[in-house]
Amino acid sequence: MPANICQQLNKAKNLDKESYVSSLLSQMTLKEKIGQMSQFNNDDDKLATAIKNDDVGSVINEVDLDIINEFQRIATKESRLGIPLLIGRDVIHGYNTIFPIPLAQAASWSTELVETSANLAAIESSNNGINWTFAPMIDISRDPRWGRIAESLGEDPYLCSTLGVAMVKGFQGNNLANKTSIAACAKHFAGYGASESGRDYNTTNIPENELRNVYLPPFKALADAGVSTFMASFSDLNGVPVTGNSWLLNDILRDEWQYNGLVVSDWESIPQLVTHGFCEDEKSAAFEACQAGVDMEMASDTYAKNLPSFIQENKISIEQIDTMVSRLLKLKFDLGLFENHFTESRNPTEHLKNTYLNVAKEVATKSCVLLKNDKQILPLCKTKISSLAVIGPLADDGYEQLGTWIFDAKINQSVTCLDAIKDYVGNTVDVKFNEGLETSRSNNQDSFEEAVKIALSSDVAVMIVGEEAILSGEAHCRSNIDLPGCQEQLIDAIHKTGTPIVLVIMAGRPITLEKILPKVDAILFAWHPGTMGGPAITDLLFGEACPSGKLPVTFPRNVGQIPLYYGQKNTGRPASDATFVDINDIEVRAPQTSLGMTSTHLDTHFSPLFPFGFGLSYTQFEYTNIQVNMHSFSMGESVEVSATLSNVGSVDAEEIVQLYIRDLVGSVTRPVKELKGFQRIYLPAGQSKTVVFKVHTDELAFYNRQMKLNTEPGLFNAWIGSNSATELKAVFEVVLTPE
Ligand code: GLC
Repeated sequence: MPANICQQLNKAKNLDKESYVSSLLSQMTLKEKIGQMSQFNNDDDKLATAIKNDDVGSVINEVDLDIINEFQRIATKESRLGIPLLIGRDVIHGYNTIFPIPLAQAASWSTELVETSANLAAIESSNNGINWTFAPMIDISRDPRWGRIAESLGEDPYLCSTLGVAMVKGFQGNNLANKTSIAACAKHFAGYGASESGRDYNTTNIPENELRNVYLPPFKALADAGVSTFMASFSDLNGVPVTGNSWLLNDILRDEWQYNGLVVSDWESIPQLVTHGFCEDEKSAAFEACQAGVDMEMASDTYAKNLPSFIQENKISIEQIDTMVSRLLKLKFDLGLFENHFTESRNPTEHLKNTYLNVAKEVATKSCVLLKNDKQILPLCKTKISSLAVIGPLADDGYEQLGTWIFDAKINQSVTCLDAIKDYVGNTVDVKFNEGLETSRSNNQDSFEEAVKIALSSDVAVMIVGEEAILSGEAHCRSNIDLPGCQEQLIDAIHKTGTPIVLVIMAGRPITLEKILPKVDAILFAWHPGTMGGPAITDLLFGEACPSGKLPVTFPRNVGQIPLYYGQKNTGRPASDATFVDINDIEVRAPQTSLGMTSTHLDTHFSPLFPFGFGLSYTQFEYTNIQVNMHSFSMGESVEVSATLSNVGSVDAEEIVQLYIRDLVGSVTRPVKELKGFQRIYLPAGQSKTVVFKVHTDELAFYNRQMKLNTEPGLFNAWIGSNSATELKAVFEVVLTPE
């Protein structure tokens, strides 16, 4: 068989990327170019033929390595062109080894751990022929009813940007051509997290200033960090669905940001432009998406069917198609696929598997957040208790602890809490177990009596409750975010025994806990902790590790407060305890008045149950002596904000020190607090340390009324503390450079 085009080009060694791609492009037919713009799911037995005919640029959701290698062989040996395939998969928080869900990883506030997790996921998945993941998901998420908050990095643009960049570095490594690197994907561009009422795929209405100051910064950060691809969101953004939104995908992403990576649609989001009522038929949907700058179509075939006629009718120029196709080919070049597209199956060594599991445990340990620890009931001591009741539907379920997006998990690798606790205490403690409920949604209380019985005969009850994995993630949203089923009743029943309760919650979102808070002595929020959730939680419960996680998202008192987030605006009538009026304190027939009233509800306090950045430790940290090294400084300079951190408890521990600022007056109103830095500090008991943050005036910039990114002079507050409710404050002033 004569050498195909790519084989000929490969012989012409040392062609640089531009030369290789332009040479290849110049020899492609229009049909072949459009074939590169199509990604197909492997549910079609005609796929092999389509690959041979150069009609496929990428395959999604194929995970049999032999099939992947066969597809690559057909693409590179049997087709006329010989162009290798992008093999896409949702490797969101692990592949076979599952790390904590992204929202949990965000609770670690650790760029190192987030990067390492992504890197190991890249190694495992590339070992199976995957070369493109659809992660990180960096949608700012401020509505815990939305199921996809589980796969987000939380509510804050700074934290989301910082950790999102780390995840990209982990997936892509230092060189995309490394065989263990995979292309990352910034998704879902943009504003998807603002889906109204927390219902997935719902409308998003986001004023441009809010879009630019809150929702776009993580995408800009990843674009600047070299993320290889973007994914267009399903959502309707201000009346123009993103997949057809040229303002977002061209004017901002291409022209303003000069981003030249590949943009892929979301699953069938191009034909969905018809469902949105934005296009009258799939032909016009293909036109709008192509004009908007969606380079590759995922899972549907409107491009294959309709683009050729637009080019023949001169409605779309061949130059535009060439620009789009060259992005795809350059990505394949960067991935080294033109030389190395065959994956040798490499069974991981025992050592490597143990490395994965150890990292998965470390991430889970540092992602758990201690929300309550009355009377220091934690850590438990196995020599001081003789009996332990383990109760709850999630105590011994190696599947449910993995969370959402775990297509390729090796479920039998999971270590549950029950197994880990039994393994830890050995025969020093009598461990009794009852799940209490068959699932997290169950309302069948038949096992309550047995659960109560083992609690009555135990020194302490460790209850492990929460949400099954399927109750969060894509398309799985809840209008009520209490513990589902009758888990609250189970907690109540155990509470009535008088046995102290340590509550461990596994969930993919914040849970409203106000009703159960007084009934338990301690709460450890474990999110969905992944394969090694059991050992991580056990180490924390028994003091082998000290909780250090901090909330990446606000926990409301009840669902009626949503959206509730720390970086809110002050309003003209900010809520305060001085003005809060409880519904039960209003006189009967009180005359209508609003004087002195402020932005509160009558039936719930305006504060969150737990604020962004909150997390307890087994020690106590104190913050004192906040300082600024300059009380006023000019544009282009930096200020140093410092404080003394003291470990005044008895346990050596890590603290995530947080820096917040507030721009007191802006040409558009500014949030009452904005996270601008964090440091994970290890401090032995009894020691103190000065923690210093450096803030450049550029970091104080925001988009103004003219949508220009600009730092404005004026007074700023700066806080350093252990969470967003910190009150340790300093003031500095930015002045215009004197004439
Ligand atoms: C889904 C999701 C997207 C995912 C894609 C491929 O519908 O919206 O996040 O990467 O389809 O599975």
